[in-house]
Amino acid sequence: MAILVTGGAGYIGTHTCVELLLAGYEVVVLDNFCNSHPTALDRVEQITARSLSVVRGDVRDQAILEATMHHFAIDAVIHFAGLKAVGESVEKPLDYYENNVVGTHRLLQAMQKCGVETLVFSSSATVYGEPKQLPLTEDHPLSATNPYGRSKLMVEEMLRDLWQANTHWRIAILRYFNPVGAHPLGLIGEDPRGVPNNLMPYVAQVAVGKHAYLNIWGNDYPTPDGTGVRDYIHVVDLAKGHLKALAHLNAPQCTAINLGTGVGHSVQEVRKAFERASGQTVPYKVSTRRQGDVATCYADAQLATTLLGWKAEHDLVTMCTDHWRWQSLNPNGFSNG
Ligand code: NAD
Ligand code: UD1
Repeated sequence: MAILVTGGAGYIGTHTCVELLLAGYEVVVLDNFCNSHPTALDRVEQITARSLSVVRGDVRDQAILEATMHHFAIDAVIHFAGLKAVGESVEKPLDYYENNVVGTHRLLQAMQKCGVETLVFSSSATVYGEPKQLPLTEDHPLSATNPYGRSKLMVEEMLRDLWQANTHWRIAILRYFNPVGAHPLGLIGEDPRGVPNNLMPYVAQVAVGKHAYLNIWGNDYPTPDGTGVRDYIHVVDLAKGHLKALAHLNAPQCTAINLGTGVGHSVQEVRKAFERASGQTVPYKVSTRRQGDVATCYADAQLATTLLGWKAEHDLVTMCTDHWRWQSLNPNGFSNG
């Protein structure tokens, strides 16, 4: 089977390509490298001792999508390509609607024209908005609090409408919780440009000496230690969830599925676990709350187990250990080569 992986050079994309190649799929990556480095794909080939095909292109370019699907006889698409920084989305909403919403629309049109009707889409727990009850089940009401979240919600709605009109399509909407960690060989991992917004990459950069301390955004939340609680999931577990979803798409459907562990960890728990995994100290200062943050967010991960036979396997210590190996072996990410 030939899989088109849009955004395959990015953080989750590279880890998914590794699992796809190891499972014997033919992989074609389409990426414009706006937030990634071609070296990451060389590393994927190094890890798997297999080769993949790379098309430098944009998901907003329908012609290149159609040419790629024809040329490589694509059977299914895993769609990661898009922009993902919440703060930037507030400043540049049109960029987010163009890359995430228009980009997905062009992809769907190209798929329809080429008769490719199997899609795995990268959604996010952000579509649940402020949790009304925990753990978050897939039938929790959907809402968005920023343009990034709204772009994911709009795409989800577009996919549900598409399926209503064409019930032979096979669509999995995967709602990721907080992906962290890296492949255990330390050859690929998250390579954020500029100062990371997310907790684990920031903690890792403190541990490697790039920042003096971690800013903890609020310790007055109604949580056991007052800091925010999230459902961190190892990126390799997440990647494997995509293969399980592909296997499940052997029949027409449009299904939304959480990919999380079902367990929440606080900022302080993450900081301490990272200290243990790295042997470094991670000093911190408490600042005011970050606008838009919720106190607690974690998944009900049961549907993924029931439907896909998938369950996250790695715990927080392994997430930190693998994240640290990647960070310490590659302090400048992929830019050293
Ligand atoms: P990433 O930025 O590392 O990867 C995205 C990839 O898409 C990059 O290689 C980038 O160059 C490429 N890309 C972006 N716009 C493109 C375009 N118009 N055409 C072609 N390529 C383009 O991000 P990631 O963390 O791997 O996330 C992958 C997907 O998962 C995104 O859709 C993101 O919104 C979603 N997601 C991520 C998280 C997370 O915490 N990382 C959480 C929930 C959902
Ligand atoms: C953020 C995004 C969310 C996105 C998710 C995964 C916001 C408001 N939300 O969520 O839409 O789906 O990333 O990409 O940006 N923290 C600190 N100090 C830091 C960084 C984070 O204390 O330097 C805290 C946060 O307040 C939060 C926790 O760590 O309590 C996790 O933060 P983060 O990694 O940014 O993830 P989310 O807040 O879940």
